[in-house]
Amino acid sequence: MRKVLVIYKSKTGFTERYAQWIAEDLGVEAMPLNKVSLEILSGYDLLVFGGPLFASRIMGLDKLRTWMEKLPKKIWVVFATGATPSDKDFVKSIERINFSQSPQKPARFYYFLSGMDFKKMGWFNRTLIRFFARMSQKKVKQESENTPLPPSEFKSFDLSNRVYIEPLLQYVKLKS
Ligand SMILES: Cc1cc2nc3c(=O)[nH]c(=O)nc-3n(C[C@H](O)[C@H](O)[C@H](O)COP(=O)(O)O)c2cc1C
Repeated sequence: MRKVLVIYKSKTGFTERYAQWIAEDLGVEAMPLNKVSLEILSGYDLLVFGGPLFASRIMGLDKLRTWMEKLPKKIWVVFATGATPSDKDFVKSIERINFSQSPQKPARFYYFLSGMDFKKMGWFNRTLIRFFARMSQKKVKQESENTPLPPSEFKSFDLSNRVYIEPLLQYVKLKS
């Protein structure tokens, strides 16, 4: 039996919850990225890492890459969470942005739809999102007076679903 560890980076809790669902279903431990070290990793054969998308980049990936480089014989599985509805082209583009330039590639990559938590994300990210939303509102206004505008008030939403982790679970079970 291969030993499996789930590692996650999470700001507002969506990725942490996915990591816990995965760990629970596999009967293994889930650990935040900042608690993990090379010594800890050396005791495992298959590592599942999850991080949120921020401007299409997977948070925590830089740290993970250094470990992947040092421990190339381990099986690395990566998942990202984000607020964009999942489709094949989107997932491929996220995979390309995050891994095409890097010699360290995971055995498998998955994307899970999550949501946005405006209360937990902190003022800086809230301001950033408001800024980009306002820019896009202005653009829509200029393009057509009849096009409905996106909401200017931001409501948190949660579209996470435990069923999304099924393909990842199947792969890890096959390999462990
Ligand atoms: C500043 C910022 C940028 C984001 N960029 C993206 C993005 O490029 N694509 C996407 O799908 N979601 C994006 N999101 C949504 C987050 O990826 C989503 O809320 C994620 O699940 C948060 O994970 P966490 O709760 O584990 O921190 C962004 C959120 C913030 C606050």
